[in-house]
Amino acid sequence: MNDIKIFVSSVLPQIGINMLREENFNVITWNDDNPIPRDILIKNAKQCNALLCTLTAKIDATFLHECSHLEIISQFGVGYDNINIGEATKLGIPVGNTPGVLTNATADIAFGLMIAASRKMFFMHKKIEKDQWKHFTPTSNLGIELNNKTLGIFGLGRIGTEMAKRCKGAYEMNVIYHNRTQNIEAEKLLNAKYVGFDELLAQSDVLSVHCILSEETKGIFSKAAFDKMKPTSIFINTSRGAVHNEEDLIQALNDGKIWGAGLDVTNPEPMQPGNPLLNMPGVAVLPHIGSATVEARNGMSRLAAENIIEFYKNGRIPHFVNSEVIKT
Ligand code: DGY
Repeated sequence: MNDIKIFVSSVLPQIGINMLREENFNVITWNDDNPIPRDILIKNAKQCNALLCTLTAKIDATFLHECSHLEIISQFGVGYDNINIGEATKLGIPVGNTPGVLTNATADIAFGLMIAASRKMFFMHKKIEKDQWKHFTPTSNLGIELNNKTLGIFGLGRIGTEMAKRCKGAYEMNVIYHNRTQNIEAEKLLNAKYVGFDELLAQSDVLSVHCILSEETKGIFSKAAFDKMKPTSIFINTSRGAVHNEEDLIQALNDGKIWGAGLDVTNPEPMQPGNPLLNMPGVAVLPHIGSATVEARNGMSRLAAENIIEFYKNGRIPHFVNSEVIKT
């Protein structure tokens, strides 16, 4: 495989890089923690057969046309909205991703954000830093309990299912969900009920987003949606920030249309330090760390490498995003 050059566009856990080198691929890596500048990405990709990238690399139509010689793009991540899949497919470039290995890590962050928002944890932590912890106050700083509440999942796939399992196990929450198609297996496992989108908004005490970002889901949580939610509800998003409209979310919280929010993804990213969400009592924000565990990131590195190795050795991609492209 010595003659096959792989360009890795971010600093990744070493496990995947080692796997590629053990198979004698010629691996060229970007060694800076800052995202690779676009011109350098294109220059390197042009000299390589395959690209291993992350969500910080914008693989749009222009990039793909400049680098249409690429034999495979392997995304380090389950989401791939940074890649124009339609264009890659037209150009015959297969794209792989890394599902499964980050499911528990991301569900933990959704679950943690739900508790943090419901008890105003991040906001109260800041009060100590600001020397505002003076005495016990029986009627202030009150949160909301989660026992027997209704959890609404928007996008009941792997991560949504794990979030629901945690909520059922810890709080005996009742699970409802909305998907493009019904998930019968998860319904049985969780005793979950499929509902329409408006019903999901109206009934959820906690509404947790686990969908992919697509034309269908972009901005779907806007004023119109928040207006239909309970004033006591908590909105959680650990999928992609562009699924919600951030100005509308801020307005909904200010107007008391919803009670709180937990975000691991923001719109835009990164969130700026002056964002009002960072100083709202029932809001908890994290900087897109859903998959940031040693186990998940090693797993992602391994799967991203495996997609490339299997493609060149056996003509198959274990985790294929655009399987209509079969290029062997
Ligand atoms: C993913 O895999 O899509 C995550 O958001 C990046 O860690």
